[in-house]
Amino acid sequence: MSARHVTVPAFAKINLGLRILYKRPDNYHELRTVFQTISLQDSLALSFEPSVETVVRIDGTPEIADNLVDRAARAVLSHLGRNGTVHCVLKKRIPSGAGLGGGSSDAAAVLLALPFLMGEAVPMTTLSALGAKLGSDVPFFLYGGTALGLGRGEELYPLPDFPAQNGLLVTPPVHSSTPEAYKALSAGLTSFSLQNKLDGFQQEVWSGVPAADGNDFESVVFDRHPELRGIKDSLLGSGASFSAMSGSGSSVFGFFSSAGGAKLAAAELGDYPAHLFELVSRADYRRVWAEALGISGAIQNQTIGMEWPPQNPHE
Ligand code: C5P
Repeated sequence: MSARHVTVPAFAKINLGLRILYKRPDNYHELRTVFQTISLQDSLALSFEPSVETVVRIDGTPEIADNLVDRAARAVLSHLGRNGTVHCVLKKRIPSGAGLGGGSSDAAAVLLALPFLMGEAVPMTTLSALGAKLGSDVPFFLYGGTALGLGRGEELYPLPDFPAQNGLLVTPPVHSSTPEAYKALSAGLTSFSLQNKLDGFQQEVWSGVPAADGNDFESVVFDRHPELRGIKDSLLGSGASFSAMSGSGSSVFGFFSSAGGAKLAAAELGDYPAHLFELVSRADYRRVWAEALGISGAIQNQTIGMEWPPQNPHE
């Protein structure tokens, strides 16, 4: 059988609010968040060929220790009880350690694309369970769009699309460690702040308006890296209607009333790397995937939306 290949996107996410409630007995933290996919993306050219032993080869990017792409591919093959050679050319555009979920999104892209390439159907609940073992953010990237995240981020509920935005994402060369950010924040968590946070978060989700101080990590991460607070202040000073750090940092984003306003704000920041972005709704997410997989024709006439996870119509 010949190799099969496909090139798929792996979108980044931002958090439109992130509340850390308490440390759980399993040492993870219970959180409440609103995830949102954005147009910044990695790209994965994946191929699969049955073989006697499983081999996963990743090119196109400097070696990443414990690459989630490798682990995701092996998780799919092992779940299906099959061996094969998986080759991935990974084009990284999403900076790592930036709170944008780049590695998690790459892993989710493999979980969606590899069964498709292999002509196998793996239900969403199974993909989510495999994803949650790889990382707390991975299940979200199986869905995309705007979603409410509970638990350690793997318990997901769809939310209405967040309104379109002219986004500016600033990715300073600061690697913010997620476990360290949790550790620093954990010390200050109290049962008093817990109720306040839940009340505030409910209000944010019902109103669809994220709070100005809606990411709990900002306090501890901004204290460690004061330049990040400076970036948020600069974006707000340049007219952003909203600005926040994403995840446990280090990227900071702002929403502007026009793309021109976002560009001017980028110019104000000097040398910090900055990217204009748009929000990616769940419908867009699926449409882009369908195009990438060459099945957009097959879903064109569907009124409810495409089958998900995407199925290979030729198998
Ligand atoms: O799940 P993931 O591998 O992305 O998490 C990385 C680390 O972040 C965990 O090992 C844990 O220290 C911390 N974490 C946490 N609570 C969460 C998510 C992550 O404490 N909800």
